[in-house]
Amino acid sequence: MVQFTLPRNSVVKKGNHHFSKQEIKNSKTLMIYRWNPDDQKNPYLDSYKIDQKKCGPMVLDALMKIKNEIDSTLTFRRSCREGVCGSCAMNIDGVNTLACLKPIKEIKGDVKIYPLPHMPVVKDLVPDLTKVYDQLESIQPWLQKSNHEIKKQSPKDREKLDGQWECILCFCCTTSCPSYWWNSEEYLGPAVLLQAARWVNDSRDEERKKRLKDINDSMKLYRCHSIMNCTRSCPKGLNPAKAIADLKKAIVREL
Ligand code: SF4
Ligand code: SF4
Ligand code: FES
Repeated sequence: MVQFTLPRNSVVKKGNHHFSKQEIKNSKTLMIYRWNPDDQKNPYLDSYKIDQKKCGPMVLDALMKIKNEIDSTLTFRRSCREGVCGSCAMNIDGVNTLACLKPIKEIKGDVKIYPLPHMPVVKDLVPDLTKVYDQLESIQPWLQKSNHEIKKQSPKDREKLDGQWECILCFCCTTSCPSYWWNSEEYLGPAVLLQAARWVNDSRDEERKKRLKDINDSMKLYRCHSIMNCTRSCPKGLNPAKAIADLKKAIVREL
């Protein structure tokens, strides 16, 4: 029988407890994935107890409190704390989401936090996004036209971009897509394909056909099998699975 085992150095071990000696009435425990590339150790789960009365309502507030008051070595990305920049994407309570939009009170029991899955880790909760940004660059996500004349867009044409322009490139969808886990070298994944749709559907762009031709590829596009994990995990309520299906339809009709 085939036996699958994790490499020894990837097994997540028990970490340290960062609990204060004072009794906290309204406490919450966060168990957080830690990994430091400099110390040659396995990853481990550290636990931290915080006083919810002295903390903001979101998981990002708790992470900031831990970093500011308990353990300054904890590493994570954040910027806007408004669900706009996409940088605080992580796996919270088993779901990829934005820490700044996830209320602590929605989580029963301890809050378990890991980096986005199936990405190399830079440190702690920071994933290495080099590959996905290279893939984004490959679809040329900018307006392409032969001259510099300003071309106006009618409100109706502008509406065609709704559900696409709102994407904040957090990659919660891409990292929850099983097809992307297995084929990430070639499959573009839902976030990048949603961006491809955003430019294919822009009435001001002159390269619609070329853009469709470029993604008409068994690996780049057709690894999507409509599993829908992407749409379920999008913290902005977008539907990348539908955008991918619409791209496939446009290819059939127009190429
Ligand atoms: S619908 Fe496509 S892109 Fe979305 S999770 Fe499924 S396979 Fe991945
Ligand atoms: S589609 Fe949603 S989950 Fe995917 S990158 Fe955009 S905002 Fe994030
Ligand atoms: S901090 Fe910007 S989306 Fe969460």
